Amino acid sequence: MRSFAAMANNYSNSAVRNIGVGLVGFGTVGTGVWETIEKNGSLMTERSQGKFALNVVKAAVRDISKKRIENAPSDLFTSDWNEVVNCQEVEIVVELIGGTTTAFDIVVAALKLGKPVVTGNKALLAERGKELFALSREYKTPIHFEAAVAGGIPVIKAVQDSYIGNEIESMFGIINGTSNYILERMTTGGLAYPEALQEAQELGYAEADPTLDVNGWDAAHKAILLASLAYGFSIDPKEVYVRGIERVRSIDIEFAKGLGYVVKLLSVVKRHENGNIELRTQPSFISKSHILSSVNGVFNAVAIRGDASGDALFYGRGAGKEPTASSVVADLAEACYALEKSGAHRGFLPYSDEGQVMNIDETETPYYVRFDVTDRPGVIAEIANVLANDGIGIAGTHSPNDPENPDKDFVDMVFRLHTCPFGKLKATLKKTMKLDCVNSEPVVFRIENLTA
Ligand code: NAP
Ligand code: HSE
Repeated sequence: MRSFAAMANNYSNSAVRNIGVGLVGFGTVGTGVWETIEKNGSLMTERSQGKFALNVVKAAVRDISKKRIENAPSDLFTSDWNEVVNCQEVEIVVELIGGTTTAFDIVVAALKLGKPVVTGNKALLAERGKELFALSREYKTPIHFEAAVAGGIPVIKAVQDSYIGNEIESMFGIINGTSNYILERMTTGGLAYPEALQEAQELGYAEADPTLDVNGWDAAHKAILLASLAYGFSIDPKEVYVRGIERVRSIDIEFAKGLGYVVKLLSVVKRHENGNIELRTQPSFISKSHILSSVNGVFNAVAIRGDASGDALFYGRGAGKEPTASSVVADLAEACYALEKSGAHRGFLPYSDEGQVMNIDETETPYYVRFDVTDRPGVIAEIANVLANDGIGIAGTHSPNDPENPDKDFVDMVFRLHTCPFGKLKATLKKTMKLDCVNSEPVVFRIENLTA
C-alpha cells in the first residue's frame, strides 16, 4: 500500500489540494469508501498529477455509539447530517444513507451550498431526480451517481460519455445483485427463497429494507436512470411496469431448465421505431445460450446495443462494499476535477421533450404462465378454452411435481404461450381467474428471445 507520506514526497514541490469529503452514511458502502480512500488515496493523487488528495473530514451516522473503524479521529462522527453538509472543510458531500426523504434534504442542502454531491441512491434519483437535477442546474453544482447503477460497473459513465455518438437501440440488464444472488442460490444451491435472501443481506448486497430488491423496484429505478440518460427525458416511475422475484418458485426454475432457459430478473430498455421506449422489469426466461444467462450471483450485466457501436456487454459486481465504493471514489475524483472549473455540470441534462414510455399492454413476447389450480379432471381444458377463445396460442402445457409441497390438494399447471400483446394476455388471465378451478392470480414470466 502506498502511504500518504510517500505521495506527499512525490509532490512536495507542487501544491496538492487537500479536498475535504463529508460522508453522510457509514454503513456497507460508506465504510468501503473510507477504506478505499485509505488504501488507494495516494494512488489517486499520483494519477491526478498531484492535483488533489481526498480527506474524509466528517461522517454522519444514525447510531454514533457503534464501533466502526480503528484510529478514526474522535470528532469524525456525528449523528446530525447538517454538521457534515455545513462543515466548512467539507467541499464534496457523499450521500450514502438511502431512502427518498432525509436523503433528498441532504442533497438539496448540499446543492444550495454549491457543494458537489456524490450518491449511490437510485431510489432517490429515479423518484425525485427531476427536482434534484433541476436544482443541480440552477446551482451549477453537479450530482454524480455512478454507484447508483450496477455497483462497480462504470455503466453510467459509458452511457453518458462513451455512447454520445450513438443512438442507443436497447439495453438489457441484470441489475439487481440481491435478486440475482437469490435466484442462483435457489437454482444451484437448492436453497429456499427466505434463506437465500438472508444470505444476500448478510453479504451486504441487499438494501436496508430488502423489499425494493425483491419486488423489482431497485432494478426498475436503475433502468429508469439508464433510460433517462440514453433518451434524454425524465421518466415517471408510475409509467414503468415492474414485477419482482417474490413469486418465483423452484418449480419455475426447474421447468425453465428443462426447456433450455434460466430465470433472471431482467430489465428491458428498448427504443421502438416510433421513438417510444419499452421499459420494464420482470422475471424472465433467458436462453442458456445467451451470454446474460451466465451472469450469476451478485454479478450484474448490461448489454447495450448502439447503432454505431453494435453490441457490448458491461459485466461485473453489481453490489457489495468494495465494488460500490470503487464507483463512489471514481465520482469523487471527477468531482475534484470539476471543483476547479466552476459551473462544470454533471448529472442528468434533459434534451428531449418528446420521449414517451411505451404502454406495457402493447409490448409483446411469448410467456410462461403458472396457474395454481384445484386438482380435478378437466382443469387443463377449462383454462385452454379461455385462452383459445381469446386467440392466445398454446405452445405447451405441463403439471410439474412440486417438491416444496408434495401433499397439497391443489396443483401447479403451467402453460407456454405464443407471442401476443401483454394487454391481451392480462385481459385473458383475468377471465381465467373467474374459473372455479383457478385459486390465485397466475404468475407470468416473459420468454425473452434475445438476439445478441
Ligand atoms: P447501510 O449499510 O444500511 O448504511 C446506511 C448508513 O446510513 C448507516 O451508516 C446508517 O447509520 C446511516 N444513516 C441512516 N439514516 C441516517 C440519518 N438519518 N442520518 C445519518 N446517518 C444515517 O446502506 P448501504 O448498503 O451502505 O447503502 C447506502 C446507499 O448506497 C443506498 O442508497 C443504497 O441503495 C446504495 N447502494 C448500496 C449498494 C450495496 O451494495 N450495499 C450498492 C450500490 C448502491 P448507522 O450505521 O448508525 O445505522
Ligand atoms: N441492493 C442493490 C442490489 C445494491 O442488490 O443490487 C446495488 O445497487
